[in-house]
Amino acid sequence: MIDYERIPAHVAIIMDGNGRWAEKRKLPRVMGHNAGMKAMKEIVRHAGEIGVEYLTVYAFSTENWKRSEEEVSGIFNLLIKYVDSELKELCDSNVKVSILGDWSGLSDKVKEKLQMTLDSTKNNTGLKFNIALNYGSRDEMVRAAKSIAEDAALGKITADDVDEKLFSKRLYTGQQEIPDPDLVIRTSGEIRLSNFLLWQLAYAEMVFTDTLWPDYTPEEFEKSIEIFQSRDRRFGGRK
Ligand code: IPE
Ligand code: IPE
Ligand code: MG
Repeated sequence: MIDYERIPAHVAIIMDGNGRWAEKRKLPRVMGHNAGMKAMKEIVRHAGEIGVEYLTVYAFSTENWKRSEEEVSGIFNLLIKYVDSELKELCDSNVKVSILGDWSGLSDKVKEKLQMTLDSTKNNTGLKFNIALNYGSRDEMVRAAKSIAEDAALGKITADDVDEKLFSKRLYTGQQEIPDPDLVIRTSGEIRLSNFLLWQLAYAEMVFTDTLWPDYTPEEFEKSIEIFQSRDRRFGGRK
């Protein structure tokens, strides 16, 4: 049984397996992404209900541009559709949306929708729902290193000022005061991080499941949390 008193504060999810879900049904890949969006809606709702404070989902990586133009535009169109259909519910359920990643180069239409979502949820005090979009952990760290080098060149900081706290602050997560995840879940049977939150996951518990993302349900989400609760987190210390 899940212990509702010990819900992880921050859960991160690598939502993988949409393409295989569609291929299994002889459907176009974008139908898999559509089904994945539906699964995501349910998990966002459930995470808020059980008291997860931060939910971060990997929606599109810096490497996902390697896919066909058809698939990429399909994914972004679905994102617009998601915002159109869900913004009201996100607001009603007090969810605050943030974006992790460089979304400045996305199409005007996508940027407009995202800005509207950020603006209309910014004062909400419930679940913090972070969408990693055009996100890559190495890219994020290089940006942090650059901004530190720029401040050093301007004499604003010295090499001695650079420590883990300062570096963390310059990551997308640090800029938005998002703590490190306690639990990271990856669906679809792949056992890798694929450039997701490499710095922030240093001490996260990892749960992998063979379930393809569109089939991942709130019940299985609770099962993943139960696995998390059975783990003994030591953070390098000893008992
Ligand atoms: C995850 O599903 C969603 C994105 C990467 C955008 P995939 O599209 O990677 O699904 P598989 O791994 O091909 O099954
Ligand atoms: C990771 O999945 C990215 C997202 C879920 C958005 P991928 O399907 O892109 O990862 P790889 O290629 O299997 O490592
Ligand atoms: Mg994949």
